[in-house]
Amino acid sequence: MVKRIEIAGFGGPEQMILAERPDPRPGADEILIRHHAIGVNYIDTYHRSGLYPIPLPSGIGLEAAGVIEAVGASVTDLKEGDRVGYCSGPIGAYAERHVIKANRAIRLPERISYEDAAASMLKGLTVQYLIRQIYPVAAGETVLFHAAAGGVGLIACQWLAALGATVIGTVGSESKAEAAKAAGCAHVIRYDIEDVPARVLEITNGAKLPVVFDGVGKTTWPMSLDSLRRRGLLVSFGNASGPVENVNLGVLAAKGSLFVTRPTLFDYTATAEALNSAADDFFGTLLDGSVKLNIHATYPLADAATAHRDLEARKTSGSLLLKP
Ligand SMILES: NC(=O)c1ccc[n+]([C@@H]2O[C@H](COP(=O)([O-])OP(=O)(O)OC[C@H]3O[C@@H](n4cnc5c(N)ncnc54)[C@H](OP(=O)(O)O)[C@@H]3O)[C@@H](O)[C@H]2O)c1
Repeated sequence: MVKRIEIAGFGGPEQMILAERPDPRPGADEILIRHHAIGVNYIDTYHRSGLYPIPLPSGIGLEAAGVIEAVGASVTDLKEGDRVGYCSGPIGAYAERHVIKANRAIRLPERISYEDAAASMLKGLTVQYLIRQIYPVAAGETVLFHAAAGGVGLIACQWLAALGATVIGTVGSESKAEAAKAAGCAHVIRYDIEDVPARVLEITNGAKLPVVFDGVGKTTWPMSLDSLRRRGLLVSFGNASGPVENVNLGVLAAKGSLFVTRPTLFDYTATAEALNSAADDFFGTLLDGSVKLNIHATYPLADAATAHRDLEARKTSGSLLLKP
């Protein structure tokens, strides 16, 4: 039998119940992984709340790292005992064991622990496509990254700084401002109490920014647009404060012929080649020390609800893990 967290209805963290199910078996092109560490991501809260509707009842979670326990008949490039991780569907990573398609597995470099992998694959590959594929950030550029002390944010700021960019990070508290500075932000703005576009104007001597990375969504949308220079790009990649809705496209013209994209990780890692090349690029930053991970807390699998409560209450800085 395998213990896993399931949801039967959309709603708050209390919807997540620990269930016991028969052992899953891999199909021909699948692998069964015994998890050592499970990653908690903001998207899991959207699946739980119903913001991103999924068929119910369902497992929950998209990211874990562990050891292969069984491989399907047509899997040739992976074997029992291999160390792997993943950060994609099928949903159901909050579990002791889980079956995924073999071509979604990421081989873990020897020097990367299961904990570090589960704390960083989904977030790190997201940063990879944001700053290396959507808008390849060059040395000397000034860019803004919202929620700089979050899980995605701390990885992004360190990587951007290592690329030679000047990073402006926004945060919602003084302790998070310290974390953002330690992660390489040259400037930190308290978006809860400061006027972000005014500070951006001042920092950039009136030039404003070529790109803003915004995973906060509803509350930061107006300040993100107002921080961009003519023909700048807003990369709106998340909804931590709620989704951006009812957008009048004319606002992009009025504010300087701006560009907006609303991307997801899965479209940038759709093939095994794209997935592995993004993973190699990201793991390189861990292995050469330019990105250091901050694991804020590790919760028992059965206590996934507390992890969600802490994440949604903005209490956390860095990554959260579940231990099966
Ligand atoms: N599109 C993609 O491919 C993709 C992939 C991965 C993640 N994401 C998105 O990236 C964002 C960050 O993900 P994460 O897992 O690393 O989470 P996180 O950044 O660790 O947590 C979210 C942070 O957002 C900030 N925030 C601002 N307003 C908030 C509000 N009303 N409620 C809750 N938080 C608020 C908080 O930081 P402060 O306290 O400093 O304000 C909070 O810590 C999420 O929106 C997620 O959905 C998107």
